[in-house]
Formats: sequence, structure tokens, C-alpha cells
Amino acid sequence: MRSAYTLANTLGIALALAGGSALAADPAYQGNDDWVIMQQRVNQSMPMDSNPGVFAIDDGKDLFLKKGGPKNQNLSQCDFGLGSGVVKDAYAQLPRYFADTGKVQGLEGRLITCMETLQGYSPAEVREKFLMPMYKTSGEEDGTGSDMVKLATYVAAQSNGEPYKIHLNEPQTEKSYQLGQYLFFHRWGEMDLNCATCHGFNGRTVRGVPLANLLDTHTAGMIATAFPAYVIKDGTMRTQWWRNERCVMAMRLPWIETGSPLDTALTTFLRVQAMKSGEKILVPGIKPRA
Ligand code: HEC
Repeated sequence: MRSAYTLANTLGIALALAGGSALAADPAYQGNDDWVIMQQRVNQSMPMDSNPGVFAIDDGKDLFLKKGGPKNQNLSQCDFGLGSGVVKDAYAQLPRYFADTGKVQGLEGRLITCMETLQGYSPAEVREKFLMPMYKTSGEEDGTGSDMVKLATYVAAQSNGEPYKIHLNEPQTEKSYQLGQYLFFHRWGEMDLNCATCHGFNGRTVRGVPLANLLDTHTAGMIATAFPAYVIKDGTMRTQWWRNERCVMAMRLPWIETGSPLDTALTTFLRVQAMKSGEKILVPGIKPRA
């Protein structure tokens, strides 16, 4: 916590954090941990142009429009659920069911599909070209990010100002949500942990780090609407997958692949929680930690 504040101060976020106490007194606010207050203030009070993450939008757009792969195509015809080439508001409705793949897919999973179908990359090439180097270890010390995170930031930012609208009326998406909920509450691994052990209570910490209560919809909303985010502690952009993988790793469970059904299910669960809060997407988020 202390180091997060120090880092934040360096970047001039101190003012934003100082407003936190007013929020705590807001009767509409149900959660009670400092963490949410800090997160909220950093996201909403910091001018976008002070967020180093904004560069990822332009970088991502360049990558999106860059031709490549065996078919020498760009990603501009990728269908994120609203039709080929439509990026506006698409992220707000992801993960959703896609008939062409027969899968519920989130943003990263769908980008991978388009890299394979439109550009002709093999899964191995996608991994090498777009997911590395971050994908190798998902280490916090590795501040290099990936092209995937830039692409995801560009597409996600086209939904800024929209709340999440997850299509729970689609049976497949509902199933993904149920799976995510199951994963959240199921205890497993040698540590016998579930996500709720760390993220199901107010005011819980681990080694001094405040843990977000993801069952509090306001908290879930603040978190989910800010991914992909620039994480000050790491000095780089992070996607929702990265966070899922970090925590799965902390639970000593096997590696979770970007866009896999488990990754998508955890994301669907969090987004449905976020949807209940009505919080609006603001990407790139900026977080002291993530
Ligand atoms: C052993 C405790 C622990 C468990 C179990 C755990 N996490 Fe976490 N989680 C953390 C910690 C610690 C952080 C914050 C890291 C930081 O601030 O540097 C975190 C952060 C997060 C965040 C990001 C919060 C933000 O500010 O953006 C999400 C989302 C999350 N976890 C989801 C999950 C999910 C989903 C699971 C189950 C698959 C899970 N976590 C299991 C410890 C845990």
C-alpha cells in the first residue's frame, strides 16, 4: 500500500487520492475498503493525458491496421459481435457467443480468431508474434507488455462511456457465467483456495496488499471497466487475462491460456458483477496496482 502511494505521488496522483474521504461518506457507496476509493479516484480524477497508457490506443490502432500474416491482411474486418469491422461499443458486450467458432469469446480470444482466420497466422505464430514476451511468465517484473495488450486497448477504448452489457440471455454466455461463478467459489489446488478466499470479503489484505472484494458490485465495476489498464507498479499495460493468470498462478493452479474457456468464464463472471454496478468503461484504466 505504502509503495503504491509513493509511486502514485511521483506521478502526481496525490491530489486525486486526497478526494477519497468524500467518497467514503457517500451514502450510495456500499463498499468499505480504502482500495476502492484509491482505485476510483485514480481512474476518474486523473486527466487521461497524464495516463501513459493512452499511447497504447494509438499503438494498438497502428497494429490493427497493419497488414501481415500469410494472407497479408489487417484486422479491420474482424467481427467482434456487431458485424465485420465494427469496433464501436463491441467490447462492452464481450464475452459473447460467436456462431462461427461455436464459442463464447472475449476480446483477446476474438482477436486471436481474427489473426488466424483473416491474417492466416497459425496458433504458434499468434503466440510468438502477439502474446510474447509477456505470455512467457506473466511475471510482474516483466514490463514489456505485448502487441496483444495494445490491440486490446485500442478496441476496448472504442467502448469508453458504455457500461458492460453481457448477453446473459444467450444460453452459451449464461453457461460461461455459471462456469466463472463455479471457478470463483470452488476451492482447489494444494493451497485449497478459491477466488473468494481473497476476493469475497471487505477489508481483507495479503502481505499488506489490500484485496478487492469482487462480490461487491461497485468494486467489481471499478476494476472491470478499467481493464486493459496501465499499472503504475509494473510500468506497463495489463489485460484482464493477465490478472486472471496472476491470481490462478498465486493459487498454484496450471497456466490459464489467453482466450481459453476458463479465462473467458472468469472474465464473464467479473463483467456480470460489473454490469450490476452500471459503471462505465474507461480504457486505458490507470491503477497503482492490479
Ligand atoms: C491468495 C490470494 C488471492 C487469490 C486466491 C486470488 N487473488 Fe486475485 N488478487 C490477489 C492480489 C494480492 C491482488 C492484487 C495484486 C496487487 O495489488 O499487486 C489481486 C488482484 C486481483 C484482481 C485485480 C484487482 C485490480 O485492482 O485490478 C482481480 C480481477 C482478481 N485478483 C481476480 C481473481 C480471481 C478471478 C481469482 C480466482 C481465480 C483470484 N483473483 C484469486 C490475490 C488473490
